[in-house]
Amino acid sequence: MSTLEISSSEAAPHLVDADAVVIAVVKEDAGPRPGPGAKGVDDALGGTLAATLATLGATGELGEITKIPTAGRLTAPLLIAVGIGQPASGPDAPVDPDPLRRATGAAVRELATSHRRTGNGEWRIALALPTREAAEAEAVALGALLGGYSFNRYRPAPAGRTTLALLAANAHAAEALRRAQILATAVNLVRDLVNTSPSDLVPATFAERAVLVAADAGFEVSVLDEEALAEGGYGGILGVGKGSVHPPRLVRLDYNPPAAEKVLVLAGKGITFDSGGLSLKPAKAMPAMKSDMGGAAAVLGAMQAIAALRLPVHVVGYLPLAENMPSGSAQRPSDVLTIFGGTTVEVTNTDAEGRLVLADTLVRSRADSPDVLIDIATLTGAQVVALGPRVSGVMSNDDHLREQVVDASRRAGESMWPMPLPPDLSKVIESDIADVINLAAERDAGMLVAGLFLSKFVPSGVRWAHLDIAGPAFNSGEPHGFTPKGGTGAATLSLVQVAQDMADGRI
Ligand code: BES
Ligand code: MN
Ligand code: ZN
Repeated sequence: MSTLEISSSEAAPHLVDADAVVIAVVKEDAGPRPGPGAKGVDDALGGTLAATLATLGATGELGEITKIPTAGRLTAPLLIAVGIGQPASGPDAPVDPDPLRRATGAAVRELATSHRRTGNGEWRIALALPTREAAEAEAVALGALLGGYSFNRYRPAPAGRTTLALLAANAHAAEALRRAQILATAVNLVRDLVNTSPSDLVPATFAERAVLVAADAGFEVSVLDEEALAEGGYGGILGVGKGSVHPPRLVRLDYNPPAAEKVLVLAGKGITFDSGGLSLKPAKAMPAMKSDMGGAAAVLGAMQAIAALRLPVHVVGYLPLAENMPSGSAQRPSDVLTIFGGTTVEVTNTDAEGRLVLADTLVRSRADSPDVLIDIATLTGAQVVALGPRVSGVMSNDDHLREQVVDASRRAGESMWPMPLPPDLSKVIESDIADVINLAAERDAGMLVAGLFLSKFVPSGVRWAHLDIAGPAFNSGEPHGFTPKGGTGAATLSLVQVAQDMADGRI
Protein backbone atom coordinates (compact mmCIF):
# COMPACT_ATOMS: atom_id res chain seq x y z
CA MET A 1 0.00 0.00 0.00
CA SER A 2 2.65 2.47 0.97
CA THR A 3 6.16 1.44 0.10
CA LEU A 4 8.07 4.10 -1.82
CA GLU A 5 9.86 3.60 -5.09
CA ILE A 6 13.60 3.22 -4.93
CA SER A 7 16.29 2.72 -7.56
CA SER A 8 20.05 2.94 -7.64
CA SER A 9 22.01 5.56 -9.50
CA GLU A 10 25.66 6.15 -10.27
CA ALA A 11 25.15 9.91 -10.53
CA ALA A 12 27.51 12.13 -8.56
CA PRO A 13 25.70 13.61 -5.54
CA HIS A 14 26.35 17.22 -6.54
CA LEU A 15 25.04 16.65 -10.09
CA VAL A 16 22.11 14.32 -9.44
CA ASP A 17 18.69 15.41 -10.68
CA ALA A 18 16.90 15.56 -7.31
CA ASP A 19 15.01 17.86 -4.97
CA ALA A 20 17.07 16.94 -1.93
CA VAL A 21 20.32 15.10 -1.22
CA VAL A 22 20.80 13.31 2.09
CA ILE A 23 24.28 12.91 3.56
CA ALA A 24 25.61 11.45 6.82
CA VAL A 25 27.33 13.40 9.57
CA VAL A 26 29.73 11.65 11.94
CA LYS A 27 30.06 12.85 15.52
CA GLU A 28 33.64 13.44 16.55
CA ASP A 29 35.31 15.14 19.50
CA ALA A 30 36.68 17.80 17.16
CA GLY A 31 33.16 18.51 15.82
CA PRO A 32 30.83 17.20 13.10
CA ARG A 33 32.46 15.57 10.07
CA PRO A 34 30.78 14.76 6.71
CA GLY A 35 30.34 10.96 6.57
CA PRO A 36 31.26 8.45 3.86
CA GLY A 37 29.35 9.22 0.66
CA ALA A 38 29.43 13.01 1.18
CA LYS A 39 32.77 13.77 -0.47
CA GLY A 40 31.35 14.90 -3.83
CA VAL A 41 28.98 17.26 -2.03
CA ASP A 42 31.73 18.62 0.19
CA ASP A 43 34.02 19.20 -2.82
CA ALA A 44 31.24 21.04 -4.67
CA LEU A 45 30.86 23.28 -1.61
CA GLY A 46 34.57 24.01 -1.63
CA GLY A 47 35.33 21.80 1.36
CA THR A 48 33.25 24.00 3.68
CA LEU A 49 30.78 21.37 4.88
CA ALA A 50 32.37 20.60 8.25
CA ALA A 51 32.58 24.31 9.06
CA THR A 52 28.99 24.93 7.87
CA LEU A 53 27.67 22.09 10.00
CA ALA A 54 29.55 23.44 13.04
CA THR A 55 28.19 26.94 12.37
CA LEU A 56 24.64 25.57 12.27
CA GLY A 57 25.20 23.83 15.61
CA ALA A 58 25.19 20.29 14.24
CA THR A 59 26.99 17.67 16.32
CA GLY A 60 26.44 14.45 14.36
CA GLU A 61 24.30 12.98 17.14
CA LEU A 62 22.31 9.97 15.89
CA GLY A 63 19.15 11.14 14.06
CA GLU A 64 19.95 14.87 14.25
CA ILE A 65 18.76 16.62 11.08
CA THR A 66 20.31 19.77 9.62
CA LYS A 67 18.87 21.44 6.49
CA ILE A 68 21.23 23.39 4.28
CA PRO A 69 20.19 25.35 1.15
CA THR A 70 22.71 24.69 -1.60
CA ALA A 71 22.39 28.07 -3.36
CA GLY A 72 23.10 26.64 -6.79
CA ARG A 73 26.35 24.86 -5.92
CA LEU A 74 24.62 21.48 -6.15
CA THR A 75 21.91 20.63 -8.70
CA ALA A 76 19.60 19.76 -5.79
CA PRO A 77 18.41 22.87 -3.95
CA LEU A 78 18.33 21.22 -0.53
CA LEU A 79 20.94 19.27 1.42
CA ILE A 80 19.87 17.24 4.42
CA ALA A 81 22.63 16.21 6.82
CA VAL A 82 21.67 13.45 9.25
CA GLY A 83 23.74 12.46 12.25
CA ILE A 84 24.87 8.83 12.48
CA GLY A 85 26.63 9.18 15.84
CA GLN A 86 30.11 8.26 16.91
CA PRO A 87 32.17 6.08 14.55
CA ALA A 88 33.16 2.66 15.94
CA SER A 89 36.70 3.11 14.60
CA GLY A 90 38.53 5.14 11.93
CA PRO A 91 36.96 7.10 9.05
CA ASP A 92 37.39 4.22 6.60
CA ALA A 93 35.84 1.54 8.85
CA PRO A 94 32.42 0.22 7.81
CA VAL A 95 29.53 2.09 9.43
CA ASP A 96 27.39 0.06 11.84
CA PRO A 97 24.18 -0.77 9.90
CA ASP A 98 21.95 -0.22 12.93
CA PRO A 99 22.47 3.56 13.43
CA LEU A 100 22.66 3.95 9.65
CA ARG A 101 19.17 2.42 9.17
CA ARG A 102 17.75 4.59 11.95
CA ALA A 103 19.37 7.83 10.75
CA THR A 104 18.33 7.30 7.13
CA GLY A 105 14.82 6.51 8.30
CA ALA A 106 14.61 9.73 10.31
CA ALA A 107 15.87 11.83 7.38
CA VAL A 108 13.52 10.31 4.80
CA ARG A 109 10.54 10.53 7.15
CA GLU A 110 11.28 14.22 7.64
CA LEU A 111 11.44 14.77 3.88
CA ALA A 112 8.65 12.48 2.74
CA THR A 113 6.03 13.23 5.36
CA SER A 114 6.53 16.75 6.63
CA HIS A 115 8.36 18.67 3.96
CA ARG A 116 6.34 21.18 1.98
CA ARG A 117 6.27 20.23 -1.67
CA THR A 118 6.64 22.54 -4.62
CA GLY A 119 5.94 22.31 -8.36
CA ASN A 120 4.19 19.14 -9.52
CA GLY A 121 4.46 17.58 -6.05
CA GLU A 122 6.92 14.90 -7.08
CA TRP A 123 9.63 14.70 -4.50
CA ARG A 124 12.94 13.13 -5.53
CA ILE A 125 15.33 12.26 -2.71
CA ALA A 126 18.92 11.21 -3.46
CA LEU A 127 20.72 9.23 -0.77
CA ALA A 128 24.43 10.08 -0.67
CA LEU A 129 25.01 8.01 2.45
CA PRO A 130 27.62 5.29 3.11
CA THR A 131 27.19 2.46 0.55
CA ARG A 132 30.73 1.10 0.25
CA GLU A 133 29.77 -2.27 1.72
CA ALA A 134 26.69 -4.34 0.86
CA ALA A 135 25.57 -4.09 4.52
CA GLU A 136 25.78 -0.30 4.40
CA ALA A 137 23.83 -0.06 1.13
CA GLU A 138 21.12 -2.39 2.45
CA ALA A 139 20.85 -0.44 5.72
CA VAL A 140 20.46 2.86 3.85
CA ALA A 141 17.85 1.47 1.46
CA LEU A 142 15.88 -0.30 4.19
CA GLY A 143 16.00 2.68 6.54
CA ALA A 144 14.75 4.93 3.74
CA LEU A 145 11.89 2.63 2.74
CA LEU A 146 10.79 2.14 6.35
CA GLY A 147 11.21 5.81 7.30
CA GLY A 148 9.18 6.96 4.29
CA TYR A 149 6.14 4.85 5.25
CA SER A 150 2.75 6.46 5.58
CA PHE A 151 -0.65 4.88 6.11
CA ASN A 152 -3.07 6.17 3.49
CA ARG A 153 -6.14 3.98 3.73
CA TYR A 154 -8.43 6.56 5.32
CA ARG A 155 -6.85 9.79 4.13
CA PRO A 156 -5.21 10.46 0.78
CA ALA A 157 -1.42 10.51 0.66
CA PRO A 158 0.22 13.93 0.47
CA ALA A 159 0.00 15.08 -3.16
CA GLY A 160 2.56 13.65 -5.54
CA ARG A 161 4.90 10.73 -5.21
CA THR A 162 8.21 10.39 -3.44
CA THR A 163 11.02 8.57 -5.21
CA LEU A 164 14.33 7.53 -3.72
CA ALA A 165 17.67 7.17 -5.49
CA LEU A 166 20.40 5.20 -3.76
CA LEU A 167 23.65 6.74 -4.95
CA ALA A 168 25.94 3.73 -5.12
CA ALA A 169 28.45 3.04 -7.84
CA ASN A 170 29.18 -0.58 -7.02
CA ALA A 171 28.25 -4.14 -7.81
CA HIS A 172 26.37 -4.96 -4.62
CA ALA A 173 23.84 -2.10 -4.92
CA ALA A 174 21.26 -4.09 -6.90
CA GLU A 175 21.24 -7.00 -4.46
CA ALA A 176 21.11 -4.65 -1.47
CA LEU A 177 18.13 -2.87 -3.04
CA ARG A 178 16.33 -6.12 -3.76
CA ARG A 179 16.71 -7.35 -0.19
CA ALA A 180 15.73 -3.98 1.28
CA GLN A 181 12.59 -3.84 -0.88
CA ILE A 182 11.52 -7.32 0.18
CA LEU A 183 12.07 -6.56 3.87
CA ALA A 184 10.41 -3.13 3.72
CA THR A 185 7.39 -4.49 1.84
CA ALA A 186 6.93 -7.06 4.62
CA VAL A 187 7.32 -4.60 7.51
CA ASN A 188 5.04 -2.07 5.83
CA LEU A 189 2.40 -4.77 5.25
CA VAL A 190 2.47 -5.48 8.99
CA ARG A 191 2.15 -1.75 9.76
CA ASP A 192 -0.82 -1.44 7.40
CA LEU A 193 -2.58 -4.41 9.02
CA VAL A 194 -2.01 -3.05 12.53
CA ASN A 195 -3.15 0.47 11.57
CA THR A 196 -6.33 -0.75 9.85
CA SER A 197 -9.53 -0.05 11.76
CA PRO A 198 -10.59 -3.22 13.60
CA SER A 199 -14.02 -3.11 11.92
CA ASP A 200 -12.23 -3.42 8.58
CA LEU A 201 -10.01 -6.27 9.76
CA VAL A 202 -12.08 -8.90 11.51
CA PRO A 203 -10.83 -12.52 11.63
CA ALA A 204 -12.41 -13.46 8.28
CA THR A 205 -10.96 -10.43 6.45
CA PHE A 206 -7.52 -11.00 7.98
CA ALA A 207 -7.70 -14.63 6.83
CA GLU A 208 -8.67 -13.53 3.30
CA ARG A 209 -5.72 -11.16 3.28
CA ALA A 210 -3.42 -14.00 4.36
CA VAL A 211 -4.74 -16.14 1.50
CA LEU A 212 -3.90 -13.35 -0.96
CA VAL A 213 -0.40 -12.86 0.45
CA ALA A 214 0.26 -16.60 0.31
CA ALA A 215 -0.98 -16.86 -3.30
CA ASP A 216 1.21 -13.95 -4.28
CA ALA A 217 4.29 -15.25 -2.48
CA GLY A 218 3.73 -18.81 -3.70
CA PHE A 219 3.23 -20.80 -0.52
CA GLU A 220 0.39 -22.95 0.79
CA VAL A 221 -2.37 -21.68 3.04
CA SER A 222 -5.38 -23.22 4.72
CA VAL A 223 -8.09 -21.63 6.87
CA LEU A 224 -10.24 -23.23 9.54
CA ASP A 225 -13.58 -21.45 10.06
CA GLU A 226 -15.65 -21.61 13.25
CA GLU A 227 -17.22 -24.95 12.30
CA ALA A 228 -13.89 -26.56 11.49
CA LEU A 229 -12.48 -25.17 14.73
CA ALA A 230 -15.32 -26.77 16.71
CA GLU A 231 -14.85 -30.04 14.85
CA GLY A 232 -11.12 -29.94 15.58
CA GLY A 233 -11.46 -29.13 19.29
CA TYR A 234 -9.81 -25.71 19.31
CA GLY A 235 -11.41 -24.65 22.60
CA GLY A 236 -9.12 -21.67 23.27
CA ILE A 237 -9.75 -19.86 19.98
CA LEU A 238 -13.48 -20.63 20.13
CA GLY A 239 -13.80 -19.51 23.75
CA VAL A 240 -12.20 -16.15 23.04
CA GLY A 241 -14.08 -15.63 19.79
CA LYS A 242 -17.58 -16.54 20.95
CA GLY A 243 -18.48 -13.07 22.25
CA SER A 244 -18.09 -11.52 18.81
CA VAL A 245 -20.45 -11.48 15.84
CA HIS A 246 -17.29 -11.91 13.72
CA PRO A 247 -16.36 -15.58 14.18
CA PRO A 248 -12.76 -16.75 14.69
CA ARG A 249 -10.39 -18.33 12.20
CA LEU A 250 -7.17 -20.31 12.32
CA VAL A 251 -4.87 -19.70 9.36
CA ARG A 252 -2.01 -22.09 8.62
CA LEU A 253 0.70 -20.89 6.24
CA ASP A 254 3.19 -23.38 4.85
CA TYR A 255 6.35 -22.43 2.97
CA ASN A 256 8.21 -25.65 2.15
CA PRO A 257 11.02 -25.17 -0.38
CA PRO A 258 12.72 -28.29 -1.77
CA ALA A 259 16.14 -27.50 -0.24
CA ALA A 260 14.77 -27.13 3.31
CA GLU A 261 16.34 -29.21 6.06
CA LYS A 262 14.86 -27.64 9.17
CA VAL A 263 11.36 -26.72 10.30
CA LEU A 264 10.58 -23.36 11.89
CA VAL A 265 7.06 -22.91 13.27
CA LEU A 266 5.83 -19.38 13.96
CA ALA A 267 2.62 -18.66 15.87
CA GLY A 268 1.33 -15.09 16.16
CA LYS A 269 -1.39 -13.80 18.47
CA GLY A 270 -4.17 -12.48 16.24
CA ILE A 271 -6.77 -10.71 18.38
CA THR A 272 -8.24 -8.31 15.83
CA PHE A 273 -9.63 -6.23 18.70
CA ASP A 274 -9.20 -6.77 22.42
CA SER A 275 -11.97 -5.09 24.41
CA GLY A 276 -11.09 -7.38 27.33
CA GLY A 277 -14.36 -9.31 26.88
CA LEU A 278 -16.61 -9.40 29.97
CA SER A 279 -13.50 -8.51 32.01
CA LEU A 280 -13.82 -5.23 30.11
CA LYS A 281 -10.87 -2.89 29.74
CA PRO A 282 -11.09 0.75 30.83
CA ALA A 283 -11.90 3.16 27.98
CA LYS A 284 -8.42 4.65 27.82
CA ALA A 285 -6.76 1.27 27.32
CA MET A 286 -8.96 0.26 24.39
CA PRO A 287 -8.03 2.20 21.23
CA ALA A 288 -4.50 0.73 21.09
CA MET A 289 -6.04 -2.75 21.20
CA LYS A 290 -6.59 -2.71 17.44
CA SER A 291 -2.88 -3.63 17.50
CA ASP A 292 -3.52 -6.88 19.37
CA MET A 293 -3.06 -8.81 16.12
CA GLY A 294 0.50 -7.48 15.72
CA GLY A 295 2.01 -10.92 16.36
CA ALA A 296 -0.10 -12.59 13.66
CA ALA A 297 0.68 -9.76 11.25
CA ALA A 298 4.41 -10.13 11.95
CA VAL A 299 4.21 -13.84 11.14
CA LEU A 300 2.42 -13.13 7.85
CA GLY A 301 4.89 -10.39 6.91
CA ALA A 302 7.92 -12.45 7.87
CA MET A 303 6.70 -15.41 5.80
CA GLN A 304 6.10 -13.16 2.81
CA ALA A 305 9.72 -11.99 3.05
CA ILE A 306 11.16 -15.44 3.78
CA ALA A 307 9.46 -16.80 0.65
CA ALA A 308 10.53 -13.82 -1.49
CA LEU A 309 14.13 -14.29 -0.32
CA ARG A 310 13.79 -18.01 -1.07
CA LEU A 311 15.37 -18.99 2.24
CA PRO A 312 15.91 -22.77 2.34
CA VAL A 313 13.93 -23.42 5.54
CA HIS A 314 10.53 -25.06 5.96
CA VAL A 315 8.44 -22.42 7.73
CA VAL A 316 4.93 -23.02 9.05
CA GLY A 317 2.98 -20.02 10.31
CA TYR A 318 -0.13 -20.09 12.46
CA LEU A 319 -2.45 -17.12 12.83
CA PRO A 320 -5.10 -17.78 15.51
CA LEU A 321 -7.56 -14.96 14.78
CA ALA A 322 -10.40 -13.90 17.09
CA GLU A 323 -12.13 -10.78 18.28
CA ASN A 324 -12.40 -10.49 22.08
CA MET A 325 -15.78 -8.85 22.73
CA PRO A 326 -18.31 -8.70 25.60
CA SER A 327 -21.82 -9.89 24.72
CA GLY A 328 -24.53 -12.31 25.72
CA SER A 329 -22.64 -15.05 23.94
CA ALA A 330 -19.22 -14.17 25.41
CA GLN A 331 -17.27 -16.53 27.63
CA ARG A 332 -17.60 -15.81 31.35
CA PRO A 333 -14.96 -15.41 34.00
CA SER A 334 -15.05 -18.89 35.70
CA ASP A 335 -15.83 -20.75 32.45
CA VAL A 336 -13.64 -23.79 31.77
CA LEU A 337 -12.23 -24.33 28.27
CA THR A 338 -10.69 -27.42 26.78
CA ILE A 339 -7.62 -26.51 24.74
CA PHE A 340 -6.69 -28.52 21.60
CA GLY A 341 -5.17 -31.74 22.97
CA GLY A 342 -7.27 -31.86 26.15
CA THR A 343 -5.74 -29.54 28.76
CA THR A 344 -8.44 -27.63 30.65
CA VAL A 345 -8.24 -23.94 31.55
CA GLU A 346 -10.36 -22.10 34.07
CA VAL A 347 -10.81 -18.60 32.64
CA THR A 348 -10.43 -16.33 35.66
CA ASN A 349 -10.18 -13.20 33.48
CA THR A 350 -11.41 -12.94 29.89
CA ASP A 351 -8.86 -10.19 29.20
CA ALA A 352 -6.00 -12.70 29.42
CA GLU A 353 -7.16 -14.08 26.05
CA GLY A 354 -3.98 -14.15 23.97
CA ARG A 355 -2.56 -17.10 25.86
CA LEU A 356 -5.79 -19.04 25.22
CA VAL A 357 -5.67 -18.71 21.41
CA LEU A 358 -1.93 -19.40 21.41
CA ALA A 359 -2.33 -22.51 23.59
CA ASP A 360 -4.40 -24.27 20.89
CA THR A 361 -1.82 -23.34 18.31
CA LEU A 362 1.26 -24.41 20.27
CA VAL A 363 -0.26 -27.84 20.88
CA ARG A 364 -1.28 -28.09 17.22
CA SER A 365 2.31 -27.46 16.10
CA ARG A 366 3.41 -30.90 17.34
CA ALA A 367 2.18 -32.33 14.03
CA ASP A 368 4.74 -30.13 12.20
CA SER A 369 7.72 -31.56 14.17
CA PRO A 370 9.34 -28.14 14.67
CA ASP A 371 13.09 -27.82 15.16
CA VAL A 372 12.32 -24.38 16.53
CA LEU A 373 8.92 -23.05 17.66
CA ILE A 374 8.43 -19.32 18.22
CA ASP A 375 5.32 -17.48 19.30
CA ILE A 376 5.00 -13.73 18.92
CA ALA A 377 2.37 -11.87 20.89
CA THR A 378 1.20 -8.52 22.21
CA LEU A 379 0.63 -10.54 25.34
CA THR A 380 0.95 -8.50 28.54
CA GLY A 381 0.80 -4.98 29.89
CA ALA A 382 3.46 -6.25 32.29
CA GLN A 383 5.92 -6.40 29.39
CA VAL A 384 5.43 -2.66 28.86
CA VAL A 385 5.92 -2.01 32.59
CA ALA A 386 9.11 -4.06 32.68
CA LEU A 387 10.81 -3.15 29.38
CA GLY A 388 9.00 -0.09 28.08
CA PRO A 389 7.64 0.63 24.61
CA ARG A 390 10.71 -0.22 22.53
CA VAL A 391 12.18 -3.45 23.90
CA SER A 392 10.49 -6.84 23.49
CA GLY A 393 10.90 -9.66 26.03
CA VAL A 394 12.25 -13.04 24.96
CA MET A 395 11.51 -16.12 27.06
CA SER A 396 12.43 -19.71 26.23
CA ASN A 397 12.60 -23.28 27.51
CA ASP A 398 16.17 -23.35 26.14
CA ASP A 399 18.81 -20.84 27.29
CA HIS A 400 20.83 -21.18 24.12
CA LEU A 401 17.83 -20.58 21.83
CA ARG A 402 16.88 -17.51 23.87
CA GLU A 403 20.38 -16.09 23.29
CA GLN A 404 20.22 -16.98 19.60
CA VAL A 405 16.89 -15.17 19.18
CA VAL A 406 18.11 -12.07 21.04
CA ASP A 407 21.25 -12.07 18.89
CA ALA A 408 19.21 -12.45 15.68
CA SER A 409 17.03 -9.49 16.68
CA ARG A 410 20.10 -7.31 17.34
CA ARG A 411 21.50 -8.09 13.89
CA ALA A 412 18.09 -7.39 12.38
CA GLY A 413 18.11 -3.93 13.99
CA GLU A 414 15.44 -4.61 16.61
CA SER A 415 15.61 -4.46 20.41
CA MET A 416 14.81 -7.57 22.42
CA TRP A 417 15.96 -8.64 25.85
CA PRO A 418 16.17 -12.05 27.59
CA MET A 419 13.68 -12.75 30.36
CA PRO A 420 13.52 -15.83 32.65
CA LEU A 421 10.79 -18.42 33.15
CA PRO A 422 11.24 -19.30 36.85
CA PRO A 423 9.46 -22.67 37.33
CA ASP A 424 8.45 -21.85 40.91
CA LEU A 425 6.20 -19.07 39.66
CA SER A 426 3.88 -21.64 38.06
CA LYS A 427 2.21 -22.16 41.43
CA VAL A 428 0.17 -18.97 40.92
CA ILE A 429 -1.73 -20.43 37.97
CA GLU A 430 -2.86 -23.64 39.68
CA SER A 431 -6.63 -24.14 39.52
CA ASP A 432 -8.95 -25.74 42.06
CA ILE A 433 -11.10 -27.36 39.39
CA ALA A 434 -9.13 -27.47 36.09
CA ASP A 435 -5.55 -28.08 34.97
CA VAL A 436 -4.65 -24.40 35.10
CA ILE A 437 -6.12 -20.88 35.41
CA ASN A 438 -5.38 -18.24 32.76
CA LEU A 439 -4.67 -15.30 35.04
CA ALA A 440 -3.08 -15.30 38.50
CA ALA A 441 -4.78 -13.43 41.36
CA GLU A 442 -1.76 -11.11 41.78
CA ARG A 443 -0.05 -9.10 39.06
CA ASP A 444 3.52 -9.98 40.08
CA ALA A 445 5.77 -10.96 37.18
CA GLY A 446 2.84 -10.88 34.75
CA MET A 447 5.03 -11.23 31.66
CA LEU A 448 6.82 -14.28 33.05
CA VAL A 449 3.67 -15.95 34.35
CA ALA A 450 2.09 -15.56 30.90
CA GLY A 451 5.20 -17.21 29.44
CA LEU A 452 4.96 -20.04 31.96
CA PHE A 453 1.30 -20.53 31.04
CA LEU A 454 2.28 -20.91 27.37
CA SER A 455 5.14 -23.28 28.25
CA LYS A 456 2.56 -25.82 29.46
CA PHE A 457 1.30 -26.17 25.88
CA VAL A 458 4.64 -26.52 24.12
CA PRO A 459 5.09 -30.05 22.71
CA SER A 460 7.64 -31.93 24.83
CA GLY A 461 11.20 -31.88 23.50
CA VAL A 462 10.57 -28.87 21.25
CA ARG A 463 12.89 -25.83 21.50
CA TRP A 464 10.53 -22.90 21.96
CA ALA A 465 10.86 -19.14 22.36
CA HIS A 466 8.16 -16.63 23.27
CA LEU A 467 8.37 -12.99 22.17
CA ASP A 468 6.22 -10.53 24.12
CA ILE A 469 5.93 -7.48 21.83
CA ALA A 470 3.07 -5.68 23.66
CA GLY A 471 4.95 -2.35 23.84
CA PRO A 472 6.98 -2.39 20.59
CA ALA A 473 4.12 -3.42 18.24
CA PHE A 474 2.39 -0.05 18.46
CA ASN A 475 4.05 3.34 18.88
CA SER A 476 1.76 5.66 20.86
CA GLY A 477 4.57 8.21 21.19
CA GLU A 478 6.49 10.24 18.66
CA PRO A 479 8.14 8.72 15.57
CA HIS A 480 11.83 7.85 16.00
CA GLY A 481 14.46 6.55 13.59
CA PHE A 482 12.63 4.50 10.92
CA THR A 483 9.71 3.86 13.30
CA PRO A 484 6.47 5.79 12.62
CA LYS A 485 3.57 6.46 14.96
CA GLY A 486 1.06 3.62 15.20
CA GLY A 487 1.86 0.16 13.85
CA THR A 488 5.61 -0.45 13.80
CA GLY A 489 6.00 -3.91 12.25
CA ALA A 490 7.89 -5.05 15.36
CA ALA A 491 9.44 -8.54 15.29
CA THR A 492 9.03 -9.00 11.52
CA LEU A 493 12.71 -8.44 10.71
CA SER A 494 13.82 -10.56 13.66
CA LEU A 495 11.72 -13.50 12.48
CA VAL A 496 13.21 -13.27 8.98
CA GLN A 497 16.66 -13.19 10.58
CA VAL A 498 15.89 -16.30 12.64
CA ALA A 499 14.90 -18.14 9.45
CA GLN A 500 18.06 -16.88 7.77
CA ASP A 501 20.14 -18.08 10.76
CA MET A 502 18.52 -21.52 10.57
CA ALA A 503 19.30 -21.66 6.84
CA ASP A 504 22.90 -20.69 7.61
CA GLY A 505 23.23 -23.32 10.35
CA ARG A 506 23.70 -20.60 12.98
CA ILE A 507 20.56 -21.71 14.81
N1 BES B 1 -3.51 -7.38 24.66
C1 BES B 1 -3.30 -7.23 26.05
C2 BES B 1 -1.87 -6.86 26.41
C3 BES B 1 -1.39 -5.51 25.99
C4 BES B 1 -1.39 -4.45 26.88
C5 BES B 1 -0.89 -5.30 24.71
C6 BES B 1 -0.92 -3.22 26.49
C7 BES B 1 -0.43 -4.07 24.31
C8 BES B 1 -0.44 -3.03 25.21
C9 BES B 1 -3.64 -8.52 26.76
O1 BES B 1 -4.60 -9.33 26.17
C10 BES B 1 -4.20 -8.11 28.07
O2 BES B 1 -5.27 -7.62 28.10
N2 BES B 1 -3.43 -8.32 29.12
C11 BES B 1 -3.82 -7.86 30.39
C12 BES B 1 -4.02 -9.03 31.28
C13 BES B 1 -4.72 -8.67 32.50
C14 BES B 1 -6.16 -8.88 32.55
C15 BES B 1 -4.01 -8.39 33.72
C16 BES B 1 -2.71 -6.99 30.90
O3 BES B 1 -1.55 -7.41 30.82
O4 BES B 1 -2.98 -5.87 31.33
MN1 MN C 1 -6.59 -8.84 26.77
ZN1 ZN D 1 -4.86 -9.07 24.16
